[in-house]
Amino acid sequence: MKNLIICSHPLVKRDLTLLRDKNTPSHLFRSILRRVATLMAYRVTEDLAVKEISVMTPLEKTKGYMVTDSVILVPILRAGLGLVGGFVEVLPNARVGHIGMYRDEETLKPVDYYLKVPKNIHRSFVFVLDPMLATGGSAVGAVSVLKQRGARRIRFISLVAAPEGVRQLLRHHPDVMIFTCSLDRQLNKKGYILPGLGDAGDRIFGTLE
Ligand code: PRP
Ligand code: URA
Repeated sequence: MKNLIICSHPLVKRDLTLLRDKNTPSHLFRSILRRVATLMAYRVTEDLAVKEISVMTPLEKTKGYMVTDSVILVPILRAGLGLVGGFVEVLPNARVGHIGMYRDEETLKPVDYYLKVPKNIHRSFVFVLDPMLATGGSAVGAVSVLKQRGARRIRFISLVAAPEGVRQLLRHHPDVMIFTCSLDRQLNKKGYILPGLGDAGDRIFGTLE
């Protein structure tokens, strides 16, 4: 699919397997998610603009580079928070906005409850973070809200995506580039991704029981 990029590095595949495993406890789930986010960040930031600068080594002056594109990270609460740490590890200057959104369990429609994004969002790359792209309702809603605030260069970063969600997001927002570690098989009747990894928010925050 156009505008869908699958991050299939061996280390990503290994980490995704650990995250899928139902026996992986919350504390490990959180740290592996953070690590896989950093691995994904290398792929997602591959084309950021750089400017040549000069740098003084202990021995002599040489050529160096600085990244000139700015990045705003926008996790979708709650589960998107699990990806923030891994991205700021390699993008220490990134600013962070937040979108609060949850899926109504009956209708599967997104309900938004919070929005705080930095000013001048149109000048930056905006990376929307959410480990799960299921029906696509939350992703479409989040991207729409960000576009209303002026966002232009938007990338959607998920860990696992369902074909239904990818189609939905690209149908509404064909300009958005989607990054994921796996395009899974399908959704079940309750809108969960199969094989998936379960409820990402519950697994990150230990709210399963
Ligand atoms: C999950 C997930 C996405 C959404 C994906 O959040 O983190 O935001 O579902 O589903 P969709 O593509 O069908 O919209 P959830 O609604 O469970 O909220 P939570 O993160 O607060 O638990
Ligand atoms: N949200 C999740 O956390 N998991 C899914 O499989 C679908 C939506």
